[in-house]
Parts: sequence; C-alpha cells; structure tokens
Amino acid sequence: MPVLGLLGERGHGKASMPYDKFYLTTPIYYLNDVPHLGHAYTTVAADFVARWRRLEGRQVHFLTGTDEHGQKVARSAEAKGLSPREWTDQLVPRWTEVWDALDLSNDDFIRTTETRHEEPVKKFVQALYDRDQIYLGSYEGLYCVGCEAFKTPDELVDGKCPLHGFAPEVVKEDNYFFRLAGFADRLIELYENNPRFVMPESRRNEVLGKVRQGLDDLSISRVSFDWGVPVPWDEKHVIYVWIDALLNYATAAGYGSDDEMFERLWPADIHFVGKDILWFHAVIWPAMLMALDLPLPKTVFAHGYLQVGGEKMSKSKLTGISPHDLIESFGSDGYRYFFMRELSFGQDGNFSWEAMAARYNSDLANDLGNLASRVLSMIHRYLDGVIPSPPSDSEIDEADLRLRDTHRAAFKEMADALADVEIGEALKSAWAFVRKANAYVEEVTPWALAKDDAQRRRLEVVLYQLADALRLMALMLSPIIPHAAQDLWERLGLAGAVRQRTFADDGRWGMLPESSRTEVGTPLFPRIEAD
Ligand code: MSP
Repeated sequence: MPVLGLLGERGHGKASMPYDKFYLTTPIYYLNDVPHLGHAYTTVAADFVARWRRLEGRQVHFLTGTDEHGQKVARSAEAKGLSPREWTDQLVPRWTEVWDALDLSNDDFIRTTETRHEEPVKKFVQALYDRDQIYLGSYEGLYCVGCEAFKTPDELVDGKCPLHGFAPEVVKEDNYFFRLAGFADRLIELYENNPRFVMPESRRNEVLGKVRQGLDDLSISRVSFDWGVPVPWDEKHVIYVWIDALLNYATAAGYGSDDEMFERLWPADIHFVGKDILWFHAVIWPAMLMALDLPLPKTVFAHGYLQVGGEKMSKSKLTGISPHDLIESFGSDGYRYFFMRELSFGQDGNFSWEAMAARYNSDLANDLGNLASRVLSMIHRYLDGVIPSPPSDSEIDEADLRLRDTHRAAFKEMADALADVEIGEALKSAWAFVRKANAYVEEVTPWALAKDDAQRRRLEVVLYQLADALRLMALMLSPIIPHAAQDLWERLGLAGAVRQRTFADDGRWGMLPESSRTEVGTPLFPRIEAD
C-alpha cells in the first residue's frame, strides 16, 4: 500500500495522484431494533479507515445501510402492530441519527427495500438461474430467525442457538437452491492464493478449515412468508434474506443499474464484518460472484465481539447502554477514540464506564488536550498569539530533529497499521508522537527561554515547532477525533476543513503559515470526573 503522505521535511513536493478508488462497507443492519454499541463498533472502525484513506488522497466510497427484509424484521413489525414497511420507515431515522451523532462520513446509505436494490437483486438471481446455478429442491431443516440461517444440530447447544438463546424452528418446504457445493475448490484456492482475502489470519484459517470439510448447496428462497424480493420466475418464493442482503454491496455500487459506476467502484476493497457473519461474507458471497464471473472483494475483515462489564455479551446488557448515553458524556470524539484504542480490533473486547473515563482522561484530556492548551497559551503569552516565521535548517537543533523523527516514525507506523486494519496499534503509534511533543516541551522549557532576551529567536523556533506539531496532529488524528481536530486546526489560524486536506499536501513540517493568528480557547477535552 503506497503511503502518499510520507514525505518528511525533505519532501519531494506533491505526489502525483492517479485515480485511486477505495470502496469500503459496513454490514447492513437489521431493522428489528435500534442500534447498540456493537453495531456502532463496526461502523466507527470503517469510518476511521474511510477518513484516513481520504487524507491519503484516494477516491473513497464508504457505504453503510439497513437490511430490511426477512422474518426477523417482519416479526418485529408484527409485534408492534405495524406493516414491515411502516416499521422500517420509522426505524431508519433512529439509525441515521446515531450515525450523525458519531460523525459518520459515509458516502451512501442503502436500504434493501429501495428499488435501486430490489430490481438489480432480481437481475442477479435471474442470471444465476439462467446459468443453471439454481435448481428447485426440497428442504427440511432447523431455522434460527435470529441468525436468519439454517443450523445443523452440531451448531446448537442444548437444542438452542448459542447466539440467540432460543430453539430454531423446523422448516420443511420446497426451496430454490444455489449450487454452493461446486465452489469449494475454487474457494480454497482463493484463500490459499490471497492471504488478505479473509483477515485476520486466524479467521482465515477457520474458514479454510471449514470449507475443506466440504460445502452443501444453499437454500436461497422461502415460501412461508412474503416480506422479501420475489424470485423473478416464480413469485410464490421470496429470495432468502442473506442473498438479498449481501447483494447490497454490488447494487449500491451500480450493479444492474449503472454500469459505469459499477465499473469504477467494483470490487470492494474491504468489507468490515463481525465474526458472527464471516461465513456469509467469506464463503457464500464470493461463490455468488464467482458464479457470475464477477470480480471478488479484496478483503473481508472480521472483528471480534464487544462485551460489557467484562461479562459475555448479552443483548439486554448491550442494548441497556445506547451510543447516545456515551456520546453525551464523552462526546463523539471520546466515543470513537475509546472503542478504537482500547480494543484489539480482531479480538473480543470489553466496555466499561471506568475504563472509558480513564482512557479519555489520560490520552485525550491529559496528553493531547493539555499539550494543545499549553502550547497555545505560551504562544499567546510570549508571542501575542501570532505564529513566528518557520525555522531555517541552521536554526534546528538535535531536540527539534528528534521531535520531527518521532513524527515521521509514528506516521509511518500508523499508516502501516491501518493498511493491516490494526486499529488500536495505529492509535498507539499516533500517541507516541503526542507524548513526544509533551516531552519536548519539558526538554526545551520555553518559559525559561522567555526570560532571556538573547534567546528570543530560539523561543520562536520551539513554539513554531510545537504549533506545527499540533497542526500535524490535527491532520493525522482527524480520522479518529474529527471535531477536536477541526477545532485545533481553527485555533492554529488555519482555514477550511482539515478533513479535506491530504497527507501529500500538508503532511510535512514547516507548513504552518507565518503570522497566523492563534486562539487559546476552552479545553479541547474537559476532564471527566470519576462518577
Ligand atoms: N443484517 C446482517 C448483516 C448483513 S450484511 C450483508 C446482520 N445484521 S446485525 O444488525 O445483526 O449485525 C450487524 C453487525 O453488527 C455484525 O457485523 C455484527 O457482528 C455486529 N455486532 C452485533 N453485536 C456485536 C457486538 N456485541 N460486538 C461487535 N459487533 C457486533 O448481521
């Protein structure tokens, strides 16, 4: 992955930027309820990566949306005494308002009940049928409506679905089947030849192991209810909700409706998913695409599960806290930072109020917030709030070089970590730079320089360096803490939106314009008290 911004102060000017698209997706969420912390986890991670890729100068297309068909949604509507359509129309705003509150920068939002999705889904399934990839058979099995999937007896614990805690229903009907079994060899080849197709590696091995045991054909239609996309050649059937849902990634990119757009965006560069839905994305989805000779997504990244209070996730616990509650206390920046920093993205992780407050205070209020207010206050006090001229090479000493080197290393580590979707690691690297800037303040003691007129230029140089460091932090941290980054950008006297800048244009030292007027302002991250 080229790191376009890594130019350093000995940079080579603007990198030429070829058209370089990056298409990433979150799962589309079932509209059976409102969003909880687990849903927001996937979504914020994708947003962090999307914003980073934009700063790299890529043409990012970031998609999220809602999964509205199937029994799970139909039954929750029924329980409210509403039609599925009324219910989903009421629920969509409950999701988008959480995404807005979390500063989601998605470029598109797809609902599977939209015509732009439903018509292309029919086309896709018809094309499978025309290629003899679909046949009519009969099926008897155990169906978990919570998972919207058939279960084999060995997947159950005491006869119940381990994820949803209730017994699946016995279903016996004539269904259309997709010839999934025939794709096992090609899938194995895919995982073996493309180590990044399923990430992280442990998940890839799981999938590979399971596919090696062989695949069954997949039932892809249902006749016992009608909340779904009709099978085009046999309208008694509706298309299985997972087939319908997976296709959102292609239909939102123009499949079956806008060839030029599809050509430009497809294949997806990365699908972010939870580990519970990896099988659909790593096995069924590529097989569906192979069946029509369409290009495959480059990566399916499966993250772990979020737990609450150190206990195994339970739905009531998880839904007991709404993302709004946490945003109210920690702001959207605090929310985004905590979940991305605290949890190792590939693994299961825990949320607690205590851990969140501790992390917020130490990293955001102390390390970053205090640095910003100290630096801006000193510029105000010693230089009337005006940025001095940038130092020439001969004015730079060893301490200054070490600060610059730390930035360079931290930036590179952050970029590399994000290329591997190591989200917590990326933030650890970024904070090495923040901490180094704090240490630099202690090392160069601007307050001592200010007492000595002979050191006037040295004082200007160190304060310039520090202000420029804050500018570089605003840029590289804007994907994770967009509000504070923009705020900092403006306090440094910089115009426009930091999210619209690029590493190539702005990632070097010495680019803070002389004579900018700075502002001290209130703390970027007010401390949170213990209770
Ligand atoms: N509708 C399907 C996805 C279709 S994608 C073509 C679905 N929806 S969901 O709303 O149930 O879940 C969506 C995502 O939320 C999944 O990636 C799931 O892993 C994630 N999470 C749900 N609970 C979670 C946690 N407790 N922790 C982390 N992520 C969790 O599945």
